Amino acid sequence: MNTEKKAISLDAVASLCKRRGFIYQSSEIYGGINGFWDYGPLGSELKRNLKEAWWHDVVRTREDVVGVDCSLIMNPKVWEASGHLGGFSDPMLTCHQCKKHFRADHLQDQLAQSEWIDSLRSFAEDGEEGAQRYSERGLKKWASKKGRRLAPGLALIREPEAVWPKLAAALEAGGDSLAFEEVASCVIGADEAGASSLCPACGGGLTEPRQFNLMFKTFVGAMEDSASVAYLRPETAQGIFCNYRNVLDSSRVKIPFGIAQIGRSFRNEINPRNYTFRSREFEQMELEFFCHPSEADKWYEFWRDARYNWYVNLGLQSSKLTLRAHEGDELAHYARACADIEYEFPFGISELEGIANRTDFDLKQHQEFSGKDMRYFDDQTREKFIPHVIEPSGGVDRAMLAFLCEAYTEDEVPDDKGNLRSRTLMKLHPRLAPFKLAVFPLVKKDGMPEAARKITDDCKAAGIAAFYDEKGAIGRRYRRQDEAGTPYCITVDGETMESQTVTIRDRDSLVQERISADKVVECIRDRISKA
Ligand code: GAP
Repeated sequence: MNTEKKAISLDAVASLCKRRGFIYQSSEIYGGINGFWDYGPLGSELKRNLKEAWWHDVVRTREDVVGVDCSLIMNPKVWEASGHLGGFSDPMLTCHQCKKHFRADHLQDQLAQSEWIDSLRSFAEDGEEGAQRYSERGLKKWASKKGRRLAPGLALIREPEAVWPKLAAALEAGGDSLAFEEVASCVIGADEAGASSLCPACGGGLTEPRQFNLMFKTFVGAMEDSASVAYLRPETAQGIFCNYRNVLDSSRVKIPFGIAQIGRSFRNEINPRNYTFRSREFEQMELEFFCHPSEADKWYEFWRDARYNWYVNLGLQSSKLTLRAHEGDELAHYARACADIEYEFPFGISELEGIANRTDFDLKQHQEFSGKDMRYFDDQTREKFIPHVIEPSGGVDRAMLAFLCEAYTEDEVPDDKGNLRSRTLMKLHPRLAPFKLAVFPLVKKDGMPEAARKITDDCKAAGIAAFYDEKGAIGRRYRRQDEAGTPYCITVDGETMESQTVTIRDRDSLVQERISADKVVECIRDRISKA
């Protein structure tokens, strides 16, 4: 078996996810809606397992963490206190021509990679030969011959004679992206009022940067006036801070303790992209861990390492995972320390989860805005203080995407005749896999379907997600389960009827063993616990 893992593309993962029912585009039959996604039969199981794993490891198996489940819409004052109403916005520029939006802080990078700047450079490098290029038709012909795209709004098309000498000069002066951008911008600036920079997508003029609030606005009640404005929560954390006193008063927690929540958050992202990575509706798994200020550094380190190891233990290769501490100037003004757990996706290294020492910022803000006392009274030391907070904040959908990318594998395995055949498999960790096992009768007769059904039912009754399949050749049934990420396949065959044994096949190693038919539940439990 050839087990070498090839580099994968996001398209290959997305195509498998659609084909096998992990992820679909939201409202696809109407052309979809940008930034929203649906999870299919396998995806919803995987997502549930992922959240269960987090809840189990962060809440249920600890004595110092409790959970909450808060409303999506909260009193708008919450967002004033948290700073989201004032500060949760990105300055953005909009293209006059193609109407695309760009974050001001991403613009330079996007321009440097833009296709039309490349086209300008290539045009300039080609020299002055062929006067026909100076006409609009000539330019378009030149571009199509070169396999290049010219920005439709680019001044070069409208005034090639005026632009050409400037391009030549830019090339002579070193030919970097900035030089070409400047050439185009001085020509475009003349006839696009208000254009302050150029669109990375089409070369059109961009507006001045404008504030764009990322919170989705709605109205509560019958009237759509300013008094009834409310927002869909952009993070689950604030529900936790607002309930910190309630939890203290209604449960027996004592500092240090954590409050955890998994739930939906909404952000009207300017550029949703990279499949589900940046969506407008997504789920977060957040923990706010309250501790004495003198212990905050210790707990920060504890949660940073615990959260990193959680991803490794569930199958993300540590070589693709990084723990990156924020530099001083990257830290939010209230944060004392912050680290990002990053994963190398097919589109680049990006954040999965952030772990921050948020100090007493949030509780102090809520104390000020609500007028409620957020101090904690330690009855042993008689000390009153506002606890400091360590916050591991992860995205369910991002974690899922990382696990899906990590699991996607193409390898070659021998078929019945020993010829190598390529197969696609999802090497999902057994804890996360939608089904833990599939059970097949070798043929649909001689009591095999009944025996296989019994094993399936026994597993389900024991709480193990099992899938029964009797359709098609056995090899094809294996392939279907490989793509679904099912780690074990049980086959009931002729021997089962005589010796009460079945074969168990391991998805990754393809090793098959015979085990007693009445030990399947035990064997699967054992394998999952050791995985
Ligand atoms: N309470 C802190 C907070 O919300 P954040 O870095 O804005 O911090 C935390 O978000 C996590 O939520 C991110 O690490 C990411 O996993 C997830 N997340 C944030 N925005 C997202 C989006 N647009 N789409 C998917 N996941 C997102």
